[in-house]
Amino acid sequence: RMPGLEQCYNLMDFEAVAKNVMKRTAWAYYSSGADDEITLRENHAAFHKIWFRPRILVDVEKVDFSTTMLGTKVDIPFYVTATALGKLGNPEGEVVLTRAARKHKVIQMIPTLASCSFDEIMDAAEGDQVQWMQLYVNKDRSITKKIVQHAESRGCKGLFLTVDAPQLGRREKDMRTKFTEAGSNIQSSSQTDNSQGAARAISSFIDPGLSWKDIPWFQSITKMPIILKGVQRVEDVIRAIESGVQGVVLSNHGGRQLDFARSGIEVLAEVMPVLRERGWENRIEIFVDGGVRRATDIIKALCLGAKGVGIGRPFLYAMSAYGQPGVERAMQLLKDEMEMNMRLIGCSSIDQLNPTLVDTRGLSAH
Ligand code: FNR
Repeated sequence: RMPGLEQCYNLMDFEAVAKNVMKRTAWAYYSSGADDEITLRENHAAFHKIWFRPRILVDVEKVDFSTTMLGTKVDIPFYVTATALGKLGNPEGEVVLTRAARKHKVIQMIPTLASCSFDEIMDAAEGDQVQWMQLYVNKDRSITKKIVQHAESRGCKGLFLTVDAPQLGRREKDMRTKFTEAGSNIQSSSQTDNSQGAARAISSFIDPGLSWKDIPWFQSITKMPIILKGVQRVEDVIRAIESGVQGVVLSNHGGRQLDFARSGIEVLAEVMPVLRERGWENRIEIFVDGGVRRATDIIKALCLGAKGVGIGRPFLYAMSAYGQPGVERAMQLLKDEMEMNMRLIGCSSIDQLNPTLVDTRGLSAH
């Protein structure tokens, strides 16, 4: 017996339902992390090391948590991050996320390894709905160039280069289940190896030779803002700024790549003081993903200087268990939590969030 959607009161509830109703291969692919899954475990736990220092007696009758991300106005500062193989969880695939995102005016990042084709996902958007593209860079740069320029011509508003995956991590839970049902949009179907789990089966085209030297080339082939997804240290944020890219995502790929990579929120606490010291905090937009499950997680990231956060698995689980209404409810729950917690912290707008509102002494870098 599956609980009704109205019995899901927070994002974790969707995960519990999904685990029971999803196919074994799909659950293994979505839920797994690399190696011993220590980074995966740490992602949400890291938010528990940060406490609030709320203000009192601030008028919070009206609360507005709209902001902008890469120039796009959004109702709430999170986006649906790129997660591959949507059809493993729902026969309709990523367009389910697109439709839910439209309803809530949330930005969706389209994965290179989507099950639906890129155009299907773009076509599922309506009106002024904004989508970004996540890029795995092909060894054959002419293929990559075509993909990027097509994305730009279709109106994509940001190019997220995944830089933490020169080789895909070993997700052993995923490797133990036989993978047979790839989506339609896979670039290397002629030589896929299905014995190593879903992730490895589809990733052999990714170029491990990608380097800083390639950034000017990307800047020459597109006018889309370029964002590096998967940055782990302040030195690389500085280099990103010097390279002229518009953003970074502090991320460990949902714990699926390097085990013992730190959580994005932990890295953020290292990065922002250095940028502020240089007066560089406004030269780049900083995003965080990994383990964001509560509006309080979003608020903590914004207090520490993030422009927005990405959320992955919760929407996959909501989509797999309940389809579009599930994803819409997950987004609504976040909005409800956001309104309440902005009030309780004593802030009526996003520009009031600042580092004095959090106690980060529990983090290793504070
Ligand atoms: C991902 N992620 C990811 N990232 C990326 O750049 N390209 C990709 O194809 C994928 N695919 C993917 C599949 C699945 C099933 C998951 C769970 C994740 C990483 C993703 O964009 C993001 O960094 C994390 O998912 C954020 O962590 P949470 O919100 O899932 O905890």
